[in-house]
Amino acid sequence: MKLLSCNVRSFALASLVLRAAAADCDCGYTTDVGTGDNVRNALFTDAFETDFRHVADLKASEWRPQTYNKTAEITPTNHGRLYSNASTLANTVGPDAGLQLVVGSQVVDNLVRSGEVAAKRKDFFHGSYRASIKLSSEPGTCAAFYWYFNDTQEIDMEFLSKEFHTENSSYPVNIVLHSPLSAAHGFDAVKAGTWTQAFLPFNPTDGFHEYRFDFVPDVVYFYADGEYLTQMTGAAVPTVGGQLLMNHWSNGKATWTGGPPKKDAVMTVAYVKTYFNSSSPERQAEWQKRCPDIAKGSVCALPSLAEKNSGETFFNLTSLNGGDSASGSDSGGSSASATDGGKSAGFMVSPSSVAVLLSTGMVSYFLSSL
Ligand SMILES: *[C@@H]1O[C@H](CO)[C@@H](O)[C@H](O)[C@H]1NC(C)=O
Ligand SMILES: *[C@@H]1O[C@H](CO)[C@@H](O)[C@H](O)[C@H]1NC(C)=O
Ligand SMILES: *[C@@H]1O[C@H](CO)[C@@H](O)[C@H](O)[C@H]1NC(C)=O
Ligand SMILES: *[C@@H]1O[C@H](CO)[C@@H](O)[C@H](O)[C@H]1NC(C)=O
Ligand SMILES: *[C@@H]1O[C@H](CO)[C@@H](O)[C@H](O)[C@H]1NC(C)=O
Ligand SMILES: *[C@@H]1O[C@H](CO)[C@@H](O)[C@H](O)[C@H]1NC(C)=O
Repeated sequence: MKLLSCNVRSFALASLVLRAAAADCDCGYTTDVGTGDNVRNALFTDAFETDFRHVADLKASEWRPQTYNKTAEITPTNHGRLYSNASTLANTVGPDAGLQLVVGSQVVDNLVRSGEVAAKRKDFFHGSYRASIKLSSEPGTCAAFYWYFNDTQEIDMEFLSKEFHTENSSYPVNIVLHSPLSAAHGFDAVKAGTWTQAFLPFNPTDGFHEYRFDFVPDVVYFYADGEYLTQMTGAAVPTVGGQLLMNHWSNGKATWTGGPPKKDAVMTVAYVKTYFNSSSPERQAEWQKRCPDIAKGSVCALPSLAEKNSGETFFNLTSLNGGDSASGSDSGGSSASATDGGKSAGFMVSPSSVAVLLSTGMVSYFLSSL
C-alpha cells in the first residue's frame, strides 16, 4: 500500500517533489485510534471537511442551520429553545472567523435563542470526527459537537460553560452516549453509566482547540488537541450511520446548562474535518470502484492533530481559499467530498495549488518545519 503521509512536513516535500500526480487518497485515510497497547491503525474511505473561516454563506455550504422550537412542555425544564437562522452566523473576518452559534440572553415566549447546524449528508458511520472550536466563557450554556442517529444512538461531547473554573483550571467535557439503556433511565446517561467527564488540559475559552472522537466498532475514543481523553465501550456504542451536528443552547435547567447566560454567548467553529466509512451502499460502491486494489492504491495518513499553529492539512487545498476559485461550484468553503469521497486535489502539484500555498503563507511554515 502506498502510504502518503499528510503531515505538513512530508506533505510539503511531496508537494515540492512530485511533478504531477493523479488524485490521491483514493483508497482512503488512515489514522491511529485507541490508546496505550490498544493503538491501532484504522482505515476510513471517505472525507468531509469544511473550513468555516472561509464560509461566507451557510446556504452554499454542506451544512444546514436547524430551525425548530423545543418547548418547555416537551422537556420539563425552565425554558424551551428557539433554534433559528439568526443564531447561526457565518463570519469570515478577524481572528475569530468561523461559524458562530449564539445563545441569547433574552428569553422570548419562554424560549432561549439557540443555534444548531447539521451536515447535510447523513451517512457518517465509523470514523474520526474533528472540530476546531472556541467556547464561550459566559456561564449558562451547553456547547455540543455530536453524532446522532436517533435518541438511542448518539455520541456527544458536551461543554457546560458554568463548569469552567479558571481559579482551579478545571475545564470538564461531558462525554455521553445515549442508548436504550439511557432511554430506560429517562435519558439520564449518568444513571445509565454512559456518561463520563474528562478534564481538558487547557482553557477551552482562550482560543481554538480541536475536539475529536473516533467512533470504531464497539468503542468510541475521545481526544482534545490530539491528546487522548477517555473512551466509551459496550452496548451503547452505535451500530448505524448517522448525522453530524453542533449546537449551542440553554434551557435554564439548574442541573445541566444553568443560565440562560447574562450576555449573549458565542461558540465559534473554525473547521470540521471528518474521515469516515459511509453507511451508504452507493458510496461504498464508489469506493470499491476508485480503489479496486488497496495494495496498489493510495492511502493518506492523517496527522493525530489535524492542525497546529499555522499549518493546515485540509485534503482539498481549494478549501483554503473558500473553495470558490478553482471549481466555481459549491462555493462557501465546504470541501465536502460529498460526491467523490476520498478524492483529493490537494496532492496534485498544479500552479493553482502552489498559489494557494503562497497565498496562505504556508510556504514559510513548511520551510521552517522542514
Ligand atoms: C472502513 O471500511 C473499509 C472498507 O470496507 C474497511 O477496510 C475498514 O476496515 C473500515 N474501517 C473500520 C475502522 O471499520
Ligand atoms: C434558514 O436558512 C436556510 C438556508 O440556510 C433557508 O433555507 C431557510 O429558509 C431559512 N429559514 C428562515 C426561517 O429564514
Ligand atoms: C418559535 O417560537 C417563536 C416565538 O414564540 C415563534 O415566533 C416562531 O414562529 C416559532 N417557530 C416555530 C418553527 O414554531
Ligand atoms: C434507534 O435506532 C435503532 C437502530 O435502528 C433502533 O433499534 C432503536 O429502536 C431506535 N430508537 C428509537 C428511540 O427510535
Ligand atoms: C474547581 O472549583 C470549583 C469551585 O470553584 C468546584 O466546583 C470544582 O469542583 C473544582 N474542580 C476541581 C476539578 O476540583
Ligand atoms: C474540492 O473543493 C471544491 C470546492 O469546495 C469542490 O467543488 C470539489 O469537489 C472538491 N474536490 C475534491 C476532489 O474533493
